Amino acid sequence: MRNNLIIKNIGELVTCSGFTSKKGSEMQELHILKDVSIIVEKGVIKEIISSKEQLGCDFENYEIIDAEGCCVLPGFVDSHTHFIFSGYREEEFYLRVKGTSYMEIMKRGGGIANTVNNTREASKEELIELGKRRLDDMLKMGITTVEGKSGYGLDLNTEVLQLKAMKDLDKSHAVDIVSTFLGAHALPKEYTGRKKEYLDFIINEVLPIVTNEELAEFCDVFCEKNVFEVDESRYLLERAKSMGMKLKLHADEIEGIGGTELACELKAVSADHLLQASDNGIKALAASNTIATLLPCTAFSLKESYARGRKMIDEGCAVALATDFNPGSCFTQSIPLLIALACYNMNLSLEEVINALTINGAAALNREKIIGSIDKGKQADLIILKYPSYKFMLYNLGTNIVNKVIKKGVLVKEN
Ligand code: NIG
Ligand code: FE
Repeated sequence: MRNNLIIKNIGELVTCSGFTSKKGSEMQELHILKDVSIIVEKGVIKEIISSKEQLGCDFENYEIIDAEGCCVLPGFVDSHTHFIFSGYREEEFYLRVKGTSYMEIMKRGGGIANTVNNTREASKEELIELGKRRLDDMLKMGITTVEGKSGYGLDLNTEVLQLKAMKDLDKSHAVDIVSTFLGAHALPKEYTGRKKEYLDFIINEVLPIVTNEELAEFCDVFCEKNVFEVDESRYLLERAKSMGMKLKLHADEIEGIGGTELACELKAVSADHLLQASDNGIKALAASNTIATLLPCTAFSLKESYARGRKMIDEGCAVALATDFNPGSCFTQSIPLLIALACYNMNLSLEEVINALTINGAAALNREKIIGSIDKGKQADLIILKYPSYKFMLYNLGTNIVNKVIKKGVLVKEN
């Protein structure tokens, strides 16, 4: 019985079918099926059949959900967030609207350092409680897998605490969590003027614990002018890679310094932000397997121009979209806002946006074989909308139209 489910009367099934990332023009294809039912066994998609066909199984062993002609899609994969932190920075948003930039706020002692101070004070229980509430909000939006980063400790204990909080939450919460170690998020104040020493501390003292205790799958770095430059990022990431970690980069977010090219050179799984990625960087991405993860809600909140997502797809890149939920540059988990910004301000089509939030989000987490699409053999992570067509996701602007969320074949949320 457990995790056996039939969803019947699906009017429109957006499968996003595939087991690899979608690049360039492939992102336009949603692989839609009309009037079907999905059979799930033990949390895995067993079959997709036409509504007219007889169900060849014993109903008694299955939970049955009637989709009532509505649209079903894969659960969203939010592949870039920083959701474990303590303390808020609402003043910074207030200042930014009045014209103070993100970097200016950082120079004045606000920014990441502010959240680091608060997070170092928090207990694991507090971080778990805060994390749980944020995961609950994500689930309402239809997010069934989320990536979460450390990076608000910048010392051994707090970095490990953040990662352990995510490990506990992964076990107790319906949303699956993929953890990323972001020790190189900023230079902590106790290392002022000693950046190389801080990187060596991460490499020699933190990374061995993170890898031995399997606390994170990815290593990320804030590769940015006056934060960690390209050479410094390479120094850290090469070592993380040699210790078995997969790589991600915050690249070319505020200034274009070649972080995109570095991500491709190191065969990173994803390069994220990319607001200032150069033409060469985009060419390198298109020729690589690195996913371009774009975060439009951050560009919007920072009052910066958007990453050139249209050009990236036209040139053949695989683009993923994520929220970047964090306390400082983007305090929103809103998938409807993300969709509106990506369609209206970045000129992506709704089909491209949906693939970017599902199969390509999964690929940005190295999970494209198990989640991100509705295919036989994939985990049954699904959402049922309140309307018969995916087009309502754009039409009903800024509104969450997710009705039911199913995780591994179990109904976990009803809005
Ligand atoms: O993805 N840019 C670096 N990291 C985060 C923001 C972190 C913060 O300001 O707290 C980002 O935008
Ligand atoms: Fe980020």
